Amino acid sequence: MPRIETALTRLLAIEHPILLAPMGSAAGGKLAAAVTTAGGLGMIGSGQASATTIRQELGEAGNIRVGIGFITWALERNPAALDVALDARPAAVMLSFGDPTPFTGRIKAAGCKIICQVQTLAQAREAAAAGADIIIAQGRDAGGHSGTTRGTMGLVPAVVDAVAPIPVVTAGGIADGRGLAAALALGAAGISMGTRFTAARESLWDQAMKEAALSAGGDQTQQTRVFDIVRGPLWPEIYPAGRCATPSPVVGTVAKRSWRLISRRRRKSIWRRRPMILQPASSGPERVSIWSRILLPHRRSSNASLPRPSRR
Ligand SMILES: Cc1cc2nc3c(=O)[nH]c(=O)nc-3n(C[C@H](O)[C@H](O)[C@H](O)COP(=O)(O)O)c2cc1C
Repeated sequence: MPRIETALTRLLAIEHPILLAPMGSAAGGKLAAAVTTAGGLGMIGSGQASATTIRQELGEAGNIRVGIGFITWALERNPAALDVALDARPAAVMLSFGDPTPFTGRIKAAGCKIICQVQTLAQAREAAAAGADIIIAQGRDAGGHSGTTRGTMGLVPAVVDAVAPIPVVTAGGIADGRGLAAALALGAAGISMGTRFTAARESLWDQAMKEAALSAGGDQTQQTRVFDIVRGPLWPEIYPAGRCATPSPVVGTVAKRSWRLISRRRRKSIWRRRPMILQPASSGPERVSIWSRILLPHRRSSNASLPRPSRR
């Protein structure tokens, strides 16, 4: 395969300018190791900054060089998780969704590269001032959570200009070599790809979710709070009330199973919050139909009310 050398490949000493996005619940140690072995850099998703997840997934990566990603507001609630990660001397630590400043000193002192994922130009400038080695510009086209205002196409060149000479990586809506070429044309030094990797053999998603993802097309993308509500905790309001983009068959598969697994107490709390749940993040009828499908599989999706939690 021809090699594309950029500031990113040089800085991280990798062969291809491709990062595995640190997706909580999908990017575990095996997937991260597979991406590194293929010449990119695999990033483990630590989810809610869980020390247990970090230890377990680092173990799965074995001796392969990988990085670790944190949701910054979750790390603020559990800062000790950063020590667990740094003890393993990861290739890089990524901070996303919150102010990186409180953590960059410790990461730098441990000799790790700091990657900050940002959703706005203002955040990009903050990340640069906080000492980021690499900045990921995440457009609202991204899978998972993202910002509300900027698409990938407009955000990336603006960030490139604002933070030069810090290398910028593109995230959001990239799934093949054409996307990588476009990212480079926008001035980025590489890409961080998430959704494209979720159905990989090594991904932590179970087979039903992978099949649901593979059966879906891009037109079936949903922006939904369903994951946050059934799994908790809710995301801070600035991240569009937990808006999360994913193929709708995956939403149905995850939520249906989660609803079965969560405790009766949690079901009751969800039931109490049903007006907020039914309030749309993007468009109303879709939201209602997701919940109807999950909770009322035997009824028509036009029914806007949630059923009472069952006793089981
Ligand atoms: C299932 C899923 C989970 C994600 N979880 C996280 C996460 O825990 N932390 C994070 O920083 N980004 C997370 N992201 C966002 C990615 O970092 C990245 O911005 C996004 O996947 C890029 O867009 P793409 O999915 O179109 O490639 C997640 C994305 C997906 C699809």
